[in-house]
Amino acid sequence: MQATREQVLDALSEGPVAGPALADRLDVSRAAIWKHVEQLREEGFEIDSGDDGYELVSVPEFGASAVAYGLEAPFEIEYHDSIDSTNRRARERAAEGEGDVAVLADEQTGGRGRLDRAWASPSGGVWLSLALRPEVPIAHAPAFTLAAAVAVTRAAREAGVNARIKWPNDVVVGDDERKLAGILTEVEGEADRVDWVVVGMGINVNVDPSALPAAADATSVQEAVGPIDRRVFTQRLLEEFDALRRDLDAVVPAWRADATTLGKRVRVETPGGTVEGEAVNISFPGALVVDTGEERVTITAGDCEHLRPA
Ligand code: BTN
Repeated sequence: MQATREQVLDALSEGPVAGPALADRLDVSRAAIWKHVEQLREEGFEIDSGDDGYELVSVPEFGASAVAYGLEAPFEIEYHDSIDSTNRRARERAAEGEGDVAVLADEQTGGRGRLDRAWASPSGGVWLSLALRPEVPIAHAPAFTLAAAVAVTRAAREAGVNARIKWPNDVVVGDDERKLAGILTEVEGEADRVDWVVVGMGINVNVDPSALPAAADATSVQEAVGPIDRRVFTQRLLEEFDALRRDLDAVVPAWRADATTLGKRVRVETPGGTVEGEAVNISFPGALVVDTGEERVTITAGDCEHLRPA
């Protein structure tokens, strides 16, 4: 059963609808309808009240209510104008036993990247961490990183940006492969069971590239196609991710289709040393297979550099 608030919103979006008629239809008091309308206005929904009744005119630009409105994926949205790190907060929610929570921020003051690096997160980005409680062995957790990379790539493409994935989790744009987004996945559990997974996605959306560290070779959606509707972008991203996580076997083929790494000469710095050769495949749940000329090496973690063809 849809909550009354959602039913009111749906009715107003099809509006105009008179308050008393809506109260009758939803079997609540007129005062309750009025309270919902006032609450929605406070959240940024623009609602006209004319002779024919209430009508939804516009939805807020960004934030929890904006992203939740019309979202076809079962995530609770927790929004912050500014927070230290959405991953830190999502871990907190996950450790409290919650799942399917999407922590979203306009700005992060202590954004964290892979390998303990800082992650610049100025206002205008989509800084998003999902707290998940999947019933999978811990060894399958990397598939969620791949799913996130595919979801970000698809949402970016829909926004008009020709994005590709660089192994393991960078979303890049253009021939010079400048970084549009990165993903930081954190996992807690035992060998045969994940307790929780936090998938953090940092996407430079409506960000001026001058606000990003030059050394990071970063770009943004804004630089590629101009500013976009972050509400719609975030919704598409969540919906794509939700579909992929329900079908983990489809993730690797989807990743392969969007990858720029396969077929390239690569140098990968792994915890066990440097591997150089041609990236020939990716295997479940996310390992890169490199043909060194002498052998095929399967790499589960590392920093990957694309080299010029030999
Ligand atoms: C990388 O180093 O490429 C991964 C960067 C991940 C950044 C995102 S932004 C949202 C979430 N919160 C964080 O503190 N980090 C991740």
